[in-house]
Amino acid sequence: MSKFSTQYSFSGSIERFAKAASMIPGGVNSPVRAFKSVGGTPVFLSKAKGSRFWDVDGNEFVDFCQSWGPLILGHADERVVEAVQTAARSGLSFGACHEGEIRMAELILSAMNDFDRVRLMSSGTEAVMTALRLARGATGRDLIVKFQGGYHGHSDSMLVKAGSGLVTGGEADSRGVPSEVAAQTIVTSFDDEEGVDAVFSRYGDRIAAVIIEPLPANNGLLVQRQEFLQFLRDITLKFGALLIFDEVISGFRLRFGGYYQIAGVIPDLVTLGKIIGGGMPVGALVGRRDLMENLAPQGGVYQAGTLSGNPVSLAAGIETLRILSEETVYTRLEMNGQKFASLLKGANIPALRLQRAGSILWLYLDDCDLPRRTDMISGLAMQRYKEIFRPVLERGFYLPPSPYEVMFLSASHSELELTEFADVIIGQLQKTSISQVQ
Ligand SMILES: Cc1ncc(COP(=O)(O)O)c(C=O)c1O
Repeated sequence: MSKFSTQYSFSGSIERFAKAASMIPGGVNSPVRAFKSVGGTPVFLSKAKGSRFWDVDGNEFVDFCQSWGPLILGHADERVVEAVQTAARSGLSFGACHEGEIRMAELILSAMNDFDRVRLMSSGTEAVMTALRLARGATGRDLIVKFQGGYHGHSDSMLVKAGSGLVTGGEADSRGVPSEVAAQTIVTSFDDEEGVDAVFSRYGDRIAAVIIEPLPANNGLLVQRQEFLQFLRDITLKFGALLIFDEVISGFRLRFGGYYQIAGVIPDLVTLGKIIGGGMPVGALVGRRDLMENLAPQGGVYQAGTLSGNPVSLAAGIETLRILSEETVYTRLEMNGQKFASLLKGANIPALRLQRAGSILWLYLDDCDLPRRTDMISGLAMQRYKEIFRPVLERGFYLPPSPYEVMFLSASHSELELTEFADVIIGQLQKTSISQVQ
């Protein structure tokens, strides 16, 4: 089917969104799905396969959001679906020990062999919550340092923005987060050794951990300098604080293992989610034995979950990781990423830029330098993204519904789809004044 000739109608989605909104706050079960950042009504999906999905109106889209990252193989990969079906027939939940937990632990630890313990849970948020509690429990300290624009799930201590003073505790970034809790999180800037230094000079002996996405991908794609990550390693060691790499997005995305291995910086704890669940809810905390032994029931740091290590979720994750370990998925993703980048570059539109790390892509529609910090992101670039979102959607390409979110390639995106997608973006920009920007 050619997506270029199809007329898109969204009446079914509009109707369903109104109905959903009469029962579900904002009509969605996770805020960014509401399309608030791009305007219009979200599409209601009916099925998905490979690189594509279909909505209730029968529209077909090539999906570059891929459920926000877990679907590195694409939607409903046959082998993963088969593994899930087989597991489901043997029991949906055990709430007790089973072999899938061992297999998953083996896969993760064989890939991240700087560590020897892993605790499985059901989401990235949970993994981060546990990492922070463990850091506090192990060090006996209270404060956590995070970075402006880093997203680590929706636990209270992570919904915090920088405080008003230069080096002070943070302020709640959501109503309902007590100010006392927010004050225990200090927020500083990416790519800024001096800022981190100032925080440690003031609070060094109270800091339990620094948490960072080593490849920040929740406020655009703000690729950090290796030296900055190494600096965080050095300063945390110097002050006896832990370094937590939140790899919920980057884990198993660029290689079979963590981004920390690409950066050559070994943190104390790594949080995982998304890909290790292959599209089902799985999170994990990975660390060294001496630290991880603080977790209950061995140690006094409590963590638990009714559905932790769920056999059906793990079956999806195990099969996904098996495929990633045995096939050349990463090479193909890198090649496709490169191809897409060169197609965009070939258009010679200065304000059409792409930040890319393997199969993570961020469209940046301004001709200034690609940013490494949140406060350097061009408002104009974000505005332009909003302007092209709908027209691109109506040509059959689904972008993440926010200019600050990244796109994901999956193994099932074809070269032809990438070429068509690049053509649509370029064509859209050429229709607007953006192509004139020098
Ligand atoms: C880096 C990072 N950490 C944590 C989370 C939270 O994970 P979840 O949505 O599975 O709770 C996310 C979610 O996008 C994330 O990107």
